[in-house]
Amino acid sequence: MQTTEQINEKFFEEYVSEDAVRKYSTETAGFGINYLLHHDYAKIYMDAVDSYLRTSPQRPLRVLEFGCGAGMNIITLVSVLEKSAVPVECAYGTDFSPRLVESATQQAKTGLAPAQNVKLTFCVARNEKLNEDLAKAAGKRPDDFEGFFDLIIGVNTFRYCHRLGKSRECADDIFRMLRPGGVCVNIDMNNKFPAFRSKLKHTVEDPAEAYLPTLDEYASPFKMAGFDLKKKKNFCWIPHSAGRGLTLACRMVGPFLSVVAGSRAMRSLVVARKPA
Ligand SMILES: C[S@@+](CC[C@H](N)C(=O)[O-])C[C@H]1O[C@@H](n2cnc3c(N)ncnc32)[C@H](O)[C@@H]1O
Repeated sequence: MQTTEQINEKFFEEYVSEDAVRKYSTETAGFGINYLLHHDYAKIYMDAVDSYLRTSPQRPLRVLEFGCGAGMNIITLVSVLEKSAVPVECAYGTDFSPRLVESATQQAKTGLAPAQNVKLTFCVARNEKLNEDLAKAAGKRPDDFEGFFDLIIGVNTFRYCHRLGKSRECADDIFRMLRPGGVCVNIDMNNKFPAFRSKLKHTVEDPAEAYLPTLDEYASPFKMAGFDLKKKKNFCWIPHSAGRGLTLACRMVGPFLSVVAGSRAMRSLVVARKPA
């Protein structure tokens, strides 16, 4: 059995590789994820903004994505918000991989107009020390980020906090860094989707390294941190790596599958709001 430090080191090695850059960059990640970023995921983020966050030109949004990889989600979100006339004051993307942070910074330069790009900063920060590491990287004090953000998102990264036994640390920091009424959106792998379970079983030796939380386990650290849970469900039948044809087929059968086997969809979604 490995220690949490050994497990974290292994994850780190995986995420500083060129393969990781390819897997988590918009041009090379796959048609499926690009479709989701502009449709299903964008809709979830915009629903959170429209339902819970009041914006005005005087009070533009402050947004953070933790475990952002090469920045696909936060870059698309900044662009979608601007297109939807929701002003953004600033956005941050954090990840513990300096290689992915560097790649995200480059991707933002090409993926965003200069006026949007200047608002987006990528920093090296660990999910389990989010407030402290972000403050250090941004040249600020941890208190400066207390109650600072309106919206914090995490996509396919919170499971690593669970694997390290650090989910409470991450959720507590997110709670601290959100303003009252602020919202956290978490999207991650569903442990009930059969293909994820069997893939992890066959590719990773240590069960701790392959652990996938249940939907309740994803939600629990947020509940314990003091959040109100607004959404807790499984959704999405489109693999990130799917090509154009498979994405279309999955879009067609998805609504039917959601009715007959909703809890076995590919992703788990938790939307949590800090009490206003
Ligand atoms: C599956 S990738 C998802 C990347 C990105 N969110 C996306 O959806 O494209 C998981 C990400 O979590 C990051 N990660 C894993 N453990 C982390 C930790 N302890 N602290 C910060 N980032 C971590 C990895 O570097 C990687 O970028």
